Amino acid sequence: MIICRTKADMRENVRNWKQVGQTVGLVPTMGYLHEGHLALVRMAIQKADRVVASIFVNPTQFGPNEDLATYPRDEKQDLGLLAAEGVDAVFLPSEEEMYGAGGGTHVDVPDLSGILQGALRPGHFRGVSTVVTKLFNIVAPDIAVFGEKDYQQLTLIRQMVRDLDMPLEIVGHPTVRESDGLAMSSRNVRLSEDHRSEAVMLNRALDRAQEFAKTGPAIAELEAVVMSRLAQAPSAEVKSVDIRDAVTLGELQGALDRPAVVLLAVRFGPVLLIDQRVIAPVT
Ligand code: PAF
Repeated sequence: MIICRTKADMRENVRNWKQVGQTVGLVPTMGYLHEGHLALVRMAIQKADRVVASIFVNPTQFGPNEDLATYPRDEKQDLGLLAAEGVDAVFLPSEEEMYGAGGGTHVDVPDLSGILQGALRPGHFRGVSTVVTKLFNIVAPDIAVFGEKDYQQLTLIRQMVRDLDMPLEIVGHPTVRESDGLAMSSRNVRLSEDHRSEAVMLNRALDRAQEFAKTGPAIAELEAVVMSRLAQAPSAEVKSVDIRDAVTLGELQGALDRPAVVLLAVRFGPVLLIDQRVIAPVT
């Protein structure tokens, strides 16, 4: 497995592969890899001849009071996991290599970056769309794989690729879960034992919403059902429960009459967890 710490090195490897007609898949990550990331890697390996995973804890997507300093990192373990999966190259730039003395140019998808999670985390999605654009420009992948768990991120990246005619396919991978249903996340390790056992309630609330959706309920009723299930986790600080159009993330009113996505953001102590589920009425 090749380890590229500079953009030039990464580009040279990709150029060599493309010269012999090979396609390239990219899995962008912030490291501290778990089974969820490895599932994305496996999907990329199925879809492309060569696979690059990037590991970069992107400072521009963290707010001033967010967990950049304490974000978990374990480069050695990550490299071992990626090598075992058969990844061809890892792009591991430093902050200096990635941004250097940048001029502050950024990419934004304003219709999607300021709503939902973006309203709670100003600047976050601008940081994501900018770094993902840079990664696409450096690696020039034919496909890039992102998890559906970060549903708003996936929707925004799809929109950005359409709007800017970026020549690649975005592939979404279903959320990978622990055996008790908790969505896998690098943040899970920071949950206390009590919070970890209560956190399973996010998935249970989504299961309940999925079941209830079949009856074609009103959006407000669905929200109430989700809230009452989350209330069974006494330490949960519910930051948001949103039920939006599954394609556009636009607001919904009245009865559930089309596929919708339920988006949850719930804090347990210092750890913010998110989860999502696409639901639909029975037609
Ligand atoms: O989902 C993530 O881990 C990050 O937001 C991403 C896409 C790697 C950009 O930094």
